[in-house]
Amino acid sequence: MNKYKIQTLNNISPKGLGRFPLERYEVASDLSEPDGLVLRSASLHGMAIPPSLKAVGRAGAGTNNIPVAEMSSRGVAVFNAPGANANAVKELVVTGMLLAARNIIAAWDFVHGLDGDADTMGQAVEAGKKQFKGFELPGRTLGVVGLGAIGVKVANVAQDLGMQVIGYDPAITVGNAWQLDASVEQAHTVEELLSRSDFVSLHVPLIDATRGLINADRLKLMKTGATLLNFSRAPIVDETAVLQALEQGGLHRYVCDFPTPEARGRAGVIALPHLGASTQEAEDNCAVMVADQLRDYLETGNVRNS
Ligand code: MLT
Repeated sequence: MNKYKIQTLNNISPKGLGRFPLERYEVASDLSEPDGLVLRSASLHGMAIPPSLKAVGRAGAGTNNIPVAEMSSRGVAVFNAPGANANAVKELVVTGMLLAARNIIAAWDFVHGLDGDADTMGQAVEAGKKQFKGFELPGRTLGVVGLGAIGVKVANVAQDLGMQVIGYDPAITVGNAWQLDASVEQAHTVEELLSRSDFVSLHVPLIDATRGLINADRLKLMKTGATLLNFSRAPIVDETAVLQALEQGGLHRYVCDFPTPEARGRAGVIALPHLGASTQEAEDNCAVMVADQLRDYLETGNVRNS
């Protein structure tokens, strides 16, 4: 019997790849005529679609690195792993809020640059305590844009931390968002959410409607001293406008998961190398979820997205 061929385009968790039984599957990075592709961040835009291809599995939530419409028109099914890395992202968003509230990165830079004897260090500690005085999260308002699996987890944990949480999603109300804490308040527009929040966290996919969602005009609506967190995709935010808002002192911090040459080293920017989903657990969960979907689809034609 011919084996199904699964080509991997990135490092994929062995736990996930183990879901393809070896007696029925060949799994490798250098296959020709694949039945399925499994990838993480590799881009399929511009790639010639092999005629043998029947399904693609993205071991993550976003599918913006896949030309989904083109795949569909060629009869290639596209699967992703919604929710499978939501806990990992949620934990990093909370970390991001704390990094911003307690000025931790700036304080670390300050300590790192210290030179001198114990007396000098002692004086620096006194200066640092004043310079980097922060604030606490309870009572502050978090606005969550996007109430999918990740946004909901972020909203719920913020409630647990004593924050007020308001949510906005163009497609659903807070009342309909799956597993969202009942006390999360509805914001009726992005503008309302921005103007009421001390922290704004973005959890929407990158599509035409969300590209540049946070632009110069909307940034002006944010409270002075607010922090913007972007663990979704870089183009959702107009970075030039954000850098300007930081420079002018309106925005306190921009915490994001995408380093860019323009933002690197700029005061107020805390940029990470796309670490949101980079935990062992999230990588395993995502890989298992897409492998199961691909296997079911190839063997039975069944489509599920869980
Ligand atoms: C996602 O879309 O869930 C992330 O981009 C996953 C990843 O980091 O690979």
